[in-house]
Amino acid sequence: MGRVSGKVALITGGASGLGREAAERLVEEGARVLVTDINQIDGEAVARSLGSNGAFARHDVTKEEEWVTATQKALEVFGRLDILVNSAGIGTMNSVEDCSLEEWRHVMAVNGDGVFLGCKYGVAAIKQTSTSEGSGGSIINISSVSGLIGGHNLAAYNASKGAVRLLSKSVALHCARKGYNIRCNSVHPTFIDTPMVRAMFEDADDPDRVRQKLSRQVPLGHIGEPNDIAWAIVYLGSDESKFMTGAELVVDGGITAM
Ligand SMILES: NC(=O)c1ccc[n+]([C@@H]2O[C@H](COP(=O)([O-])OP(=O)(O)OC[C@H]3O[C@@H](n4cnc5c(N)ncnc54)[C@H](O)[C@@H]3O)[C@@H](O)[C@H]2O)c1
Repeated sequence: MGRVSGKVALITGGASGLGREAAERLVEEGARVLVTDINQIDGEAVARSLGSNGAFARHDVTKEEEWVTATQKALEVFGRLDILVNSAGIGTMNSVEDCSLEEWRHVMAVNGDGVFLGCKYGVAAIKQTSTSEGSGGSIINISSVSGLIGGHNLAAYNASKGAVRLLSKSVALHCARKGYNIRCNSVHPTFIDTPMVRAMFEDADDPDRVRQKLSRQVPLGHIGEPNDIAWAIVYLGSDESKFMTGAELVVDGGITAM
């Protein structure tokens, strides 16, 4: 209890999966959370479940003007911003030959532009409150193992998650150089049991076979739970990680150790 007491977080993609789980764990550990998403119904439900420690803003991460209003809302509703979790993202599977330019641009817009805009407006908002009071801020960008290793059928997704990895390092170094006391790190999950990955099972003829196939790729022998990532996010959002910036937190059951 209390690992992030008094802190305020904005979580994109907070209506589902990793963003939702992170919102729940952060509130349990003492934070207040602005959940944002394009999915208004589920996002509002998550915020309601957090009681007075939660609020919701409809927010498309690809739209610059919506970043302005979302970060302003965090400051208006909760009075400060300390933690930004860029979790909104989409997954597609296509090789470089099969991926259309339209699909490439869509994936890059959500996974790439969305995180760039988040860092830009996140730094601006965190600077207004958190750093002046000495506690500092933390930007947590959800990349993927696909930001570290390639897949033959992940052309656009690989490129977008690789961009998140190095953007995070640039943001970390910029903030350090400016003396902002804002850290920025990337998190690299492998298959985690969220709606994004479940769609891969559910769309298959034999969902159990697909789940087992994914599990066999993980040295620990199973896919991860959303909490496996949520606890990494709590750690990076808390002062426990105050000397950690520009780093890659890999939570992948051993996949990238091979
Ligand atoms: N689940 C995994 O196995 C896994 C593994 C590695 C990385 N990731 C990454 O973790 C992040 C979260 O994934 P998840 O598994 O929770 O997926 P999810 O589909 O459960 O949740 C993603 C959320 O992002 C929202 N979203 C999509 N486009 C948006 C936009 N333009 N603006 C705002 N919100 C938008 C969706 O509405 C959804 O609520 C993603 O960036 C994903 O690439 C997931």
